Amino acid sequence: MATAVSSRFEVIDLAPKIGSAIRCDKQTLLGGERAQDIREIMERRGVIVFPEIGLTDEEQIAFTHTLGTFAHEEGERSEGKPGDTVYPITMDSSINPNADYLKGAFYWHLDGTMSDKPILASIMSARALAPTGGETDFCNTYAAFDDLPEEEKRAIEPLQVVHAMWRSQLYWKPEPSFAELNAWIGRGTNTLPLVWKHRSGRKSLVLGATALQVEGMGIAESERLLVKLRDWATQPQFSYRHTWKIGDMVLWDNTGTMHRALPYDHRSGRLMHRTKLEGEEAFA
Ligand SMILES: [Fe+2]
Repeated sequence: MATAVSSRFEVIDLAPKIGSAIRCDKQTLLGGERAQDIREIMERRGVIVFPEIGLTDEEQIAFTHTLGTFAHEEGERSEGKPGDTVYPITMDSSINPNADYLKGAFYWHLDGTMSDKPILASIMSARALAPTGGETDFCNTYAAFDDLPEEEKRAIEPLQVVHAMWRSQLYWKPEPSFAELNAWIGRGTNTLPLVWKHRSGRKSLVLGATALQVEGMGIAESERLLVKLRDWATQPQFSYRHTWKIGDMVLWDNTGTMHRALPYDHRSGRLMHRTKLEGEEAFA
């Protein structure tokens, strides 16, 4: 009884090594019939843009469920909030009391380096924009690893890196109070491989603002290597910059990319609604 429905599903690559735009209708996304294709494109291209798709919060939550396991925000359950919700990304602390914490997002990072199994993906919709700035940059850490010289790949593959949340907080607040610093340091550290060998066989770089020190290296040598690799991975050939329009939705593979927001006026009211997919694979 099923008939083949040829709904529109057009995939356009945005840059040679990262980013695709998918033009399709809402029903195609919400019905889930393209979920496997979307996951495959996400893993291969890192970032998928759904230009001006204009999903409501409920639709974004439903779409997230078609792709995997919906991930709840930390503490959401203990606050007793019922059901699945979108998370507001804003610098307006009347909307998000943890707005300060989000300031680490202005520097290259991937989410979840303080846990052993980071989220698989984030999905973000633009609800309000700043008049200027506020673009989101992405880079493909699979492609960046693949294109390293073979000798360098071999040299960095065995290395482990200590990550700490406080390192990323010092980017935006270089002189915290002792109490603040202690609270950040209380979040602990996490040691991760510099090169993530995924179960698919592909390898990606694990870098970002939480990367504190390469194990077994002095401070200067470690910093030189981390900055050199960040510089390499964020080159134009591995990167895509998304300039938002209201209603755009962007989905990215958090396990094979890094991202950052570009500066904007924190009083502008810029507001993004984010949902996430639970991680499916540990770093090591
Ligand atoms: Fe992030």
